[in-house]
Amino acid sequence: NIQVCDASWNGHGEAQCGIQASSSSKILIKGGTVVNAHHQEITDVYVENGIIVAVKPNIKVGDDVTVLDATGKYVMPGGIDPHTHLAMEFMGTETIDDFFSGQAAALAGGTTMHIDFVIPVNGSLSAGFKAYERKANNSCMDYGFHMAITKWDEVVAEEMEIMVKEKGINSFKFFMAYKGSLMISDELLLEGFKRCKSFGALAMVHAENGDAVFEGQKRMIELGITGPEGHALSRPPMLEGEATSRAIRLANFVNVPLYVVHVMSIDAMEEIAKARKSGQRVIGEPVVSGLILDDSGLWAPDFVTAAKYVMSPPIRASGHNKALQAALSSGVLQLVGTDHCTFTSTQKSFGIDDFRKIPNGVNGIEERMHLLWDTMVESGKISPTDYVQLTSTECARIFNIYPRKGAILAGSDADIIILDPNSSFEITARSHHSRVDTNVYEGMKGKGKVEVTIAGGRIVWENDQLKVVPGSGKYIEMPPFSYLFEGIEKADAKYLSSLQAPVKRFNSTT
Ligand code: URP
Ligand code: ZN
Ligand code: ZN
Ligand code: ZN
Repeated sequence: NIQVCDASWNGHGEAQCGIQASSSSKILIKGGTVVNAHHQEITDVYVENGIIVAVKPNIKVGDDVTVLDATGKYVMPGGIDPHTHLAMEFMGTETIDDFFSGQAAALAGGTTMHIDFVIPVNGSLSAGFKAYERKANNSCMDYGFHMAITKWDEVVAEEMEIMVKEKGINSFKFFMAYKGSLMISDELLLEGFKRCKSFGALAMVHAENGDAVFEGQKRMIELGITGPEGHALSRPPMLEGEATSRAIRLANFVNVPLYVVHVMSIDAMEEIAKARKSGQRVIGEPVVSGLILDDSGLWAPDFVTAAKYVMSPPIRASGHNKALQAALSSGVLQLVGTDHCTFTSTQKSFGIDDFRKIPNGVNGIEERMHLLWDTMVESGKISPTDYVQLTSTECARIFNIYPRKGAILAGSDADIIILDPNSSFEITARSHHSRVDTNVYEGMKGKGKVEVTIAGGRIVWENDQLKVVPGSGKYIEMPPFSYLFEGIEKADAKYLSSLQAPVKRFNSTT
């Protein structure tokens, strides 16, 4: 009973399926509790031509306007997922969700924008960017790009500047793991950090010690442990803690803000907590799988079930998830991603005899908003305003697109969800919208359901029906020098002047 208007799945175009691209360009949301990151109140929201025009009580409109009654419901900014991999070529295969199917799934779950990682082509950033422009052609929601750095030379250093100044990219991800493919050395990490700092771009790290992971994998294979559980055993939390600490200290040495992606363990989280306590600008991003799941699935007796949980860093033993939730509610961690990176059972089976060949990645782009509401708000750990902060607003601030995104304010993009706190959701692969044939959250139920998603001013999800149009999503350019860079040069100047004293002393005695 879910109708997806998708030429690429159904072999027909928009006109043939009878779904209108947009029911109306004018929408009034009446009587809901409108939630922003620091304030909520019962009021109306009026949308025209993709933009929020007014947020105030008792808005009166004519009958050319679609009116949605949100009484008793929450009206919130659409989710922004800071961490996805759609149409990514990885570990000898390609993720099953492309930009269209992944985004359709996102919209059905209340996420209206995502930031995906451009993977360079043979190290070339501009070739990678071109490839991802093409991949994103069929987008049905707004998206931005981070750029991965997988090798280092003068050309890459030059291209970074072009990406920031001409292509709307303001963040670069460095892989400290995946030895032999994406991993880079500390030397290159330092070069990259310096370059990021000079352009006001945010440095991001995948923090696991890749050399030690390689050693851990050899150890498991020698012990005859070849199944999915070997994946987790080969890369324990200490290796994530070590790399997180190293990245944080190197970022401190360069005095550059740092963003740690997919924080999966207490070990990594505590390094971030320590750095933040000392005043260092470090952002920590847990992902839904790490917040909700534990490693028990990796020990499932059948391979297909166990393999679907394989991602890096691994999903940890029970206890890490609760600690990450607490870190999120206390502000030690700042926003939540998914690392949505889906491979089918058939693709996962590449590693049936050797866990090292199981493509890494789990789903989550459709489930994030529901699972976080249920786990964090419904359970009383955080408020609805906090929920908006960590699913949308903080991401918009960090990537410098606030308040165009991440807010329900006059002038903001009309990316809005209506959530009914008294309705419930249930997750199964049978009814989800991703193309993957499994779901790591299979069978999970909870309270709070996204009943309406409005993206770019159009109702794209209502009555459990998707009305999405390939090509309607816009590329969102993200300018450099976010708030995280405020004051950086003042601290540098202070450091430099502190060096003047000893220099003068030596000069005067020689
Ligand atoms: O297992 C994962 N996380 N796959 C996606 C690539 C990455 O490291 O983010
Ligand atoms: Zn159609
Ligand atoms: Zn990663
Ligand atoms: Zn990732």
